[in-house]
Amino acid sequence: MNVITSAALTRSIHVEPLTCTIGAELSNVQLGAAAHDAGLIAEIRALLLKHRVLFFRDQDISRAEHVAFARHFGELEDHPVVGSDPEHPGLVRIYKSPETPADRYENAWHTDATWREKPPFGCVLRCVECPPVGGDTMWANMVEAYARLPGDIKAKIAGLRARHSIEASFGAAMPMERRLALKAQFPDAEHPVVRTHPETGEKVLFVNGFSTHFTNFHTPEHVRFGQDYQPGAAQLLSYLISQAQIPEYQVRFRWKPNSVAFWDNRSTQHYAVMDYPPCHRKMERAGIMGEATF
Ligand code: SIN
Repeated sequence: MNVITSAALTRSIHVEPLTCTIGAELSNVQLGAAAHDAGLIAEIRALLLKHRVLFFRDQDISRAEHVAFARHFGELEDHPVVGSDPEHPGLVRIYKSPETPADRYENAWHTDATWREKPPFGCVLRCVECPPVGGDTMWANMVEAYARLPGDIKAKIAGLRARHSIEASFGAAMPMERRLALKAQFPDAEHPVVRTHPETGEKVLFVNGFSTHFTNFHTPEHVRFGQDYQPGAAQLLSYLISQAQIPEYQVRFRWKPNSVAFWDNRSTQHYAVMDYPPCHRKMERAGIMGEATF
């Protein structure tokens, strides 16, 4: 019997960067087999840190294989609002159909679940069904977004912290009682505006569509009278959130059934383009638990 070693497998990965700043397509890798190969997993992890989002085509894997691959990077977690596959806890079903046109939460630039004290490490998203055209997903490199901020802005935001809310996002369309119950279960989280990536030590601009306000802006240094607070804080937060929209930081991926994207949620934001109704789009996402941000 021929035994293919990890080293042999890892040497065979073909890596094609998709832009100058973010995203690479990996070929000659089968994620079902990768789940049994520690060397290959280590190689994929290193590539994830480098490119921030990895793409794989033709991954005709089962749900169990999808989960097994993602589990190499940490425990999986369900979503409090979007349901999971009943037989595969942690495999969230992002299914859109003509019957659910208003159910649209992914077409905003966001980092997944920053309303958690410990936002996810990353996600492995597989396309089950997609429209013939449309329904792309975009990612932005938030390390680059921080690095290219003007110096005076960097000085101003050093040490600032922000709240992130599920209540004001997923909860907003709910009747008040449900919304308050959701908030009781997931109180708003607080994170540094500039996060340090726990593995690479890079500085990351860490505010997104879930961020509602700064928690420590209202100091004599920034605010003389009350009116300085809203213009200063709200405009600054809005400016920072808008950085993900800069094309130089982005990659855009066109899905096909069995395409997979694996992103580092600690250094990126993403946006699912909602241009395809009334077509169906079915995605399954394994969300991997992360760590506290400090
Ligand atoms: C997500 O926002 O996590 C899902 C992205 C997508 O459906 O393309």
